[in-house]
Amino acid sequence: MKPWAGRFEKGTARQVEEFTASIHFDRRLYREDIAGSIAHACALAACGAISGAEADALIAGLGEVLQDIESGAVDFSASDEDIHTAVERMLAAKVGDVAKKLHTGRSRNDQVALDMRLYVRKEAERLAGLIDDVRRALVDVADANAGVVMPGYTHMQHAQPVLFAHHLLAYFEMLTRDMERLADAARRANVSPLGSGALAGTAHPVDRAAVARELGCSGVTRNSIDAVSDRDFVMEFLASAAIIMVHLSRLAEEIVLWSSQEFGFIELDDAFATGSSMMPQKKNPDVAELIRGKVGRVVGDLVAVLTVMKGLPLAYNRDMQEDKESLFDAVDTVASCLEVMAPMVRTMKVNAGAMREAAGRGFTTATDLADYLVRKGIPFREAHAAVGRLVLKCVREGKSFDELTLDEWKTLAPGVSEDVLEIVRVEASLEARAVRGGTAPAQVRAALEEARAMLGRRTMLGRRAGSMDAG
Ligand code: ARG
Repeated sequence: MKPWAGRFEKGTARQVEEFTASIHFDRRLYREDIAGSIAHACALAACGAISGAEADALIAGLGEVLQDIESGAVDFSASDEDIHTAVERMLAAKVGDVAKKLHTGRSRNDQVALDMRLYVRKEAERLAGLIDDVRRALVDVADANAGVVMPGYTHMQHAQPVLFAHHLLAYFEMLTRDMERLADAARRANVSPLGSGALAGTAHPVDRAAVARELGCSGVTRNSIDAVSDRDFVMEFLASAAIIMVHLSRLAEEIVLWSSQEFGFIELDDAFATGSSMMPQKKNPDVAELIRGKVGRVVGDLVAVLTVMKGLPLAYNRDMQEDKESLFDAVDTVASCLEVMAPMVRTMKVNAGAMREAAGRGFTTATDLADYLVRKGIPFREAHAAVGRLVLKCVREGKSFDELTLDEWKTLAPGVSEDVLEIVRVEASLEARAVRGGTAPAQVRAALEEARAMLGRRTMLGRRAGSMDAG
């Protein structure tokens, strides 16, 4: 029996039942749904809409429903329509007629808004923890390879030498901001819409603030129409998820490049690589490629929800049911990518020799040379041009800086002496970049320490300890 069947003379067409049902995916919200119902039952009793004994019966029944679902003993069917009606049906089977009172002063519209908010809060915190694991892997690998030098690139061309640790810590920074974005999204999601009813607010004098406290929310929504019709907290979460994936895909791309024969900078652990069904010699970075590929799903999830919400008139519209599969897909995808990225990074073998060798190729210290000429009193533009000419000569003659004679160096500009040989060393180039945020070894050591101290600092929602945690 549908909760809304009273006004109807006929049953729903089977096809419509299946078309409108969301139970096969929104069943994932059962914990949040039950937590909301328990808080609502308390509020109903507190305002006298039901008796204390009735509230106790409802709460005990909801606890049993929760256990049944967790133990897998429950069969959801399409006639359940969604998780809200399914829980109501199961509750009725446990506690009988009193179950019919639970929906007093509440609509599925404020109920689903609450469930989604609690779910986003929970998953934002979980994903932040998984990001932290990747950050830890980056810091550990950076630490273990603190002296390793690689070529830094712009336009995929050798640019200037950098420490490998410095490069890895760039990803640490991106992921740190990702955690902050998630915390921010969770913070804004963490308000209770219960009491908004279908759209205009409930006529029962429920203590909305008490319900919010019970659920660990920081407060209540201010406008009932907004509360049931906005999903911007979902969009924000998905936007954060999409950005995480963009970051992961860039790291994944570098792992693909670095593990190629052309680079040879790293070798993936056997456990995190795959082979070819035809070519016996192959060791492929499929894991990194899949992470790179899955960014498309999550960006798609964001775009799907943005598009669903665009132009929807206030307040609730069934279109909004379409927010769930996108949200769930994004959660699952981001979680699985983070979970595999951390150990893949942690176990990769770093080929310091290949990186160091590459770092010295491609005249990567040419900028240092120009800076040296500047110190000899030559304007930077002229110095740039002189070094450019020297590089051109080397390219033509197939030489590196190392192969130039002192006389050749001296053609660069008046005043050039032997100290130039020190200047063009890769290690000297690193040392010279001693600004905060630069790649000088001392700076990178400090950055590593700072990064390590930041590990484990989680999303800090500031929730009341011991509050109802919907999972
Ligand atoms: N299953 C719906 C959703 O996910 C929530 C129920 C509200 N349904 C309704 N007809 N008012 O959005």
